[in-house]
Amino acid sequence: MKSAESKFSPSWKFPRLTIVRSEGVNLVTSIVDILEKRLRRRLFELCPKPLGLATGRTMEPIYEALVARLRSWSASDLERLLYGWCSFNLDEYAGLKDGDDRSFRSYMSRHLGGPLQLNADKLRLPDGQAKDLHKESCCYTNQLKSYGGVGVQLLGLGSNGHVGFNEPPSSPDLSCRLVSLSHSTRVQNAFLFNGDPLQVPSQAITLGLNEILGAEEIHLIVTGHGKADILKELLHSPCSPHLPASWLRLHKNVSLWVDQAANSKALLKVEDSSD
Ligand code: GLP
Repeated sequence: MKSAESKFSPSWKFPRLTIVRSEGVNLVTSIVDILEKRLRRRLFELCPKPLGLATGRTMEPIYEALVARLRSWSASDLERLLYGWCSFNLDEYAGLKDGDDRSFRSYMSRHLGGPLQLNADKLRLPDGQAKDLHKESCCYTNQLKSYGGVGVQLLGLGSNGHVGFNEPPSSPDLSCRLVSLSHSTRVQNAFLFNGDPLQVPSQAITLGLNEILGAEEIHLIVTGHGKADILKELLHSPCSPHLPASWLRLHKNVSLWVDQAANSKALLKVEDSSD
């Protein structure tokens, strides 16, 4: 753990910003405002770093609002943005068939790629059907490294404290790899699998905390009553492998976005900021 701690300064305020909004819709608008700024900036950068994207129910209203916002751009700006688009998703289930609509690849094309008419090659995810999933994990992280790592990283929070599929226990120096999913994660994600946790794939490829902490800027988004306990725990816990998201306190630029429902136990004060 020492080596990881020496790479980061745990003395940064965690999170750098906390934005608590009372209505989900305002929270989404504020997040999309930030994302839009970052995406506009890409138009003027020579080699912008890839976006780090997440899946899950938390992200659905965000992608919906982002698509609507980007459609309001001029045709030429939008065309330039999509031409230069490069994103890396956090994770993908292992073993789902091509086109399975429960895969994260399908999720991304449903919520972002399709509506924006993005070329599928530009929306990268690990290949969960690869013959050699360990090799695929190495290739995926190497590809990301070749782009210089992630610029802006979006993160949801698992109800057991995972980010991506970095299940407890996870240390901050772990890289992209094949992981076994915990029972609680399979329960959390069973809604797409006839409500049966045993039908949720037992393995996945995930970027590790090493790649996540390497992002320039992280936005952790926590919404809904179901996240109230884990959010409270996260804000009161020291860094620990048993709460993988706690390692985010080693990063100097993490913003935490919380709605009123998720805040019902942590009782964070509203600290507004536009950027
Ligand atoms: C999932 C994904 C994460 C996601 C998290 C929260 O299992 N692997 O990337 O952010 O859990 O999911 P949700 O937004 O549906 O609560």
